Amino acid sequence: MQTQTTLGFNTKVVGSTNDYSKTAGSDVVVITSGIPRKPGMTREELIGINAGIVKSVAESLLQHSPKAIFVIVSNPMDTMTYLAYKSLGLPKNRIIGMGGTLDSSRFKTYLSLALDKPANDIQGMVIGGHGDTTMIPLTRLASYNGVPVSQFLSEEALAKVSADTMVGGATLTALLGTSAWYAPGASVAYLVDSILNDQKKLIPCSVYVEGEYGQDDICIGVPCIIGKNGVEKIVDINLNDAEKALFSKSADAVRSMNDALKTVLQ
Ligand code: 2OP
Repeated sequence: MQTQTTLGFNTKVVGSTNDYSKTAGSDVVVITSGIPRKPGMTREELIGINAGIVKSVAESLLQHSPKAIFVIVSNPMDTMTYLAYKSLGLPKNRIIGMGGTLDSSRFKTYLSLALDKPANDIQGMVIGGHGDTTMIPLTRLASYNGVPVSQFLSEEALAKVSADTMVGGATLTALLGTSAWYAPGASVAYLVDSILNDQKKLIPCSVYVEGEYGQDDICIGVPCIIGKNGVEKIVDINLNDAEKALFSKSADAVRSMNDALKTVLQ
């Protein structure tokens, strides 16, 4: 709040409370609760403890904000999004996992560094799971102002961009000693802006799939139109055979993680 007059906004921030009634009537709620990962840990290692926390936080929030759209950030994010979907009983458009937003911003950053071009001239998406080995940076479809990046970067350079993207969170965790928060926070703001201002941006998000991309009964990163109703559409893009195979492998890994939720979801 102390930056208001410097940055030119008028927003009342209420913090430092464990009282859910203070959140009553929210249009959007963002859940980051849980323990963060430490250097050397995977997101997946957090599942046991974070599942209980996320379920209880999500249920308490829903009691006070029955119409809210839920944005899930807690890790392992795809698993926690699935947990929120299954435990809250809300329509799938109101449960959004924020992973692909962040992974795509990391992807575009590493592409801009490899190209030595401004990041805002780069387009690209990361789909699949939000895990170091399950993310799928779509290098074939990434562009520098509409020109495929493959015209400027070798296969080796693109493979390095993908690898750096996939461990983008782990890189920051090693530097910070705890989970990254600047880029995740900025990605949440980007996503929430698209909801509250009904921007209908195309953003890869983790959502419950029912046949889309050949998958069922998991939450996984797919390109979505994000507007005032949350996930307004899952956009079907034509993946090639190699990308389809990666997506199917990623989905298998995401699905097997959901098995760990059986006791929490009973
Ligand atoms: C990240 O990748 C927090 O999962 C988040 O940085």
